[in-house]
Amino acid sequence: MFEALPVKQPDAILKLMLAFRADTRDHKMDLGVGIYKDINGATPVMQAVKSAEGKLLEEQDTKAYVGPLGSPQFNEAMIETVFGKNADKQRLRSAQSPGGSGALRIIADFINEARPDATVWVSDPTWPNHIPLLSAAGLNLENYPYYDATHCKVTIDAMLSSLQKAKPGDAVLLHGCCHNPTGADLTHDQWMQVIQLLKDKDLMPFVDIAYQGFGDGLEEDAWAIREMAKQLPEMMVAASCSKNLGLYRERAGAALLMGRNDTEATTALSNLQTVIRANYSMPPDHGAHVVEMVLADDEFNANWREELESMRVRMIQLRSSFADAMRKRTNSDKFDFLIEQKGMFSRLPLNGEQIEALRENNAIYIVGDGRINVAGLPDDQAAMDTLTDAIAAVL
Ligand code: LMR
Repeated sequence: MFEALPVKQPDAILKLMLAFRADTRDHKMDLGVGIYKDINGATPVMQAVKSAEGKLLEEQDTKAYVGPLGSPQFNEAMIETVFGKNADKQRLRSAQSPGGSGALRIIADFINEARPDATVWVSDPTWPNHIPLLSAAGLNLENYPYYDATHCKVTIDAMLSSLQKAKPGDAVLLHGCCHNPTGADLTHDQWMQVIQLLKDKDLMPFVDIAYQGFGDGLEEDAWAIREMAKQLPEMMVAASCSKNLGLYRERAGAALLMGRNDTEATTALSNLQTVIRANYSMPPDHGAHVVEMVLADDEFNANWREELESMRVRMIQLRSSFADAMRKRTNSDKFDFLIEQKGMFSRLPLNGEQIEALRENNAIYIVGDGRINVAGLPDDQAAMDTLTDAIAAVL
């Protein structure tokens, strides 16, 4: 069987992650894969997570299966985190999943069961793994234009006119906040226009929220989802705890479904459960258990929110110091867009050759489309100067 297989390459982000690890140069700078880094360039376990893990280790007395949907307490806490304390819980259901990607995949399988002729509309550009992940579930995909790389902003008119072509029952994949890879989010007014279109055309929102708390704040970043919950009959959300709880390798996330009413939500969840059972049977426990404990305990929760907020503020400061340094270095405001954009990513206006030259000559790792991880930017002035000099040189 194996002899006929072609060799396959990892995608751009994974490839860069591996190349960075293999690079032996001391001064190498990682602006690639989306993991948060502190001032020392480390990705430490968050304090509240550490405390909860200690408690879990002491208290846990079984490793028996959790069941396909995971822990009811975790699911309830995720509904509140994403939809807010005042959410209409009668219409909401959640399934614990192996990370945000696991949630995306089970929702994709669920769409394929519920409406196999549906097209899923995906922003151009989007997280590169969205495409193979959704295609692997057998879904038809179409792009809608999202980003104007020349002016570094959302192309709202082109997005809306493209989505006019969607047929009733199609799903639209939307980034809840901190768009990956562009960092360009819809304004509240633009969200209202998108929501109106979803309503008018009977389209299903499928929201990926992987960076809640990294943009404008934990509650603020869920604004669009909560607005959709007020205005629309149904919705599906893939939420990740990888970034905002720093649980990357533990794979904790949730697939959330909002139905028209209690009965329809229960039926939808029963279908999701069947998809899960046929897929990985039951989700892993550890990461989600820790999330549940952090969210439930007042002290852990307050500590987590504080640390998350300091991470968010640090990324805003890094955006601003990088834009300042580029303004001085290039004598132009060409990089000021970085200040307006949100979350962990933005795209630099660099071509493939320039990106390769930065990697070859300066050990600076940037994803092939120009995406940088803002949290990987250096804090100290000397390293910032090295970076801006290197970018100015390739420009
Ligand atoms: C990223 O976009 O860098 C992260 O979501 C990590 C990944 O799996 O690609």
